[in-house]
Amino acid sequence: MKITIFGTGYVGLVQAAVFADAGYEVICVDIDEARVARLKAGEVPIFEPGLGTLLKDNAEAERLTFTTDAPAAIRAGEVIFIAVGTPSDEDGSADLQYVLAVAATIAEHMEEPRIVVTKSTVPVGTSAKVRAEIARVLKARGREDLDYDVASNPEFLKEGSAVADCTKPDRIIIGVDRADSGQRLRELYAPFNRNHDKIILMDVYSAEMTKYAANCILATKISFMNEMASLADILGADIEKVRLGIGSDPRIGYQFIYPGIGYGGSCFPKDVKAMIHTAESVGFDAEVLRSVEDRNAKQKRMLFDKITRYFDGELAGRTFGLWGLAFKPNTDDMRESPARVLMELLWEAGAKVRAHDPEAMEECRRIYGERDDLVLCEQRDDVLTGADALILATEWKNFRVPDFKHIKATLTHPVIFDGRNIYDPAVAARYGLNLFGVGRDSAS
Ligand code: UGA
Repeated sequence: MKITIFGTGYVGLVQAAVFADAGYEVICVDIDEARVARLKAGEVPIFEPGLGTLLKDNAEAERLTFTTDAPAAIRAGEVIFIAVGTPSDEDGSADLQYVLAVAATIAEHMEEPRIVVTKSTVPVGTSAKVRAEIARVLKARGREDLDYDVASNPEFLKEGSAVADCTKPDRIIIGVDRADSGQRLRELYAPFNRNHDKIILMDVYSAEMTKYAANCILATKISFMNEMASLADILGADIEKVRLGIGSDPRIGYQFIYPGIGYGGSCFPKDVKAMIHTAESVGFDAEVLRSVEDRNAKQKRMLFDKITRYFDGELAGRTFGLWGLAFKPNTDDMRESPARVLMELLWEAGAKVRAHDPEAMEECRRIYGERDDLVLCEQRDDVLTGADALILATEWKNFRVPDFKHIKATLTHPVIFDGRNIYDPAVAARYGLNLFGVGRDSAS
């Protein structure tokens, strides 16, 4: 079976590499010529553990190819995935122009039956729009005889573990309205459906909603914990103890209940917004999700407020060492990263930032360019030089075991603001360091 994938972003590229590695012949199409040229030359456009090797091996084996030639790719692939971007419009709705443009292109060039699969995260009802767009173009071509079906197959990969998530998925959601398409896609996913049946077949609308509901409930867990953390600070409790206490209940579980400085990335913020918008569009008020979003916006400011209080509102002229720029470890992605909000607030207050991140410094340079109030340090401990305080924004492994003695000796104020609760207050205290975390300041 030959597979065509439109879009060489995160989702498309990882899925393509993983399908190719399972033995399929995969053609990746992108309209961005420069990107395709770089991929052809063997460049890996994103930092994702394991992806480079997969791309290289499968390109060498000629199972994985990259092209801008959409017509040829459409003629080749029996199953065509749409994995192009769906950025947020200003009102929070997902912008579907790229998805629908691909649908039109497929209909323009298909000559044989095709299954078109939406893989991008798209609002409920999008696959129906894709179907309508294909029907419209086929009609205009006078080729209504061509058989096609549209399926929804949302992805659940996490940045930083995308290859593993894709190779060994927890579940494979296939939304189809025709049994024969369900069967074809079941066959396609057979190499990944080992040990026990991970395929959950459902109708297209439910599959589309499953994707949003999954991200929204995870974002809700995080915002809930962040709210509890703020309350714990006031009540004198330690949220880390509370986390362990509640996580031990299997109905709650330990995952995604880590309080922090807000969720970021390309998915949670966008998907929560889109779900709120979808609800609004049908006259329904998604109250819980609106609160989740508000809480997250507050949370991204939370550490800045603690810093401001500690320095009695006098931040102008101060310098802050910052560990972590990416929205989470193991990625160079800074989209919606809490570190950005923090840096921008510090700059607005007249402070300078000295930052280090194991992977995201180039991305930071790309976003902010050269500026006097930002120094990007090649070495982790260089951020401490001349700094008033240290801030931890991303829990990279490299930050977990710091040299507390050196920190104490170097900072002008003995204080760490830990946005991910990775340091033990008792240990920091032993070195004479004040530690402010998230929902555990009484423990310091
Ligand atoms: C998320 C989902 O976890 C994936 O299942 C989904 O497929 C993906 O979105 C998507 O829709 O494409 P991702 O955005 O890569 O994946 O990152 P996560 O690991 O989920 O982290 C999201 C944010 O939540 C990060 O900023 C992280 O720091 C934060 N987080 C996570 C917390 O603050 N606390 C937690 O307990 C967990």
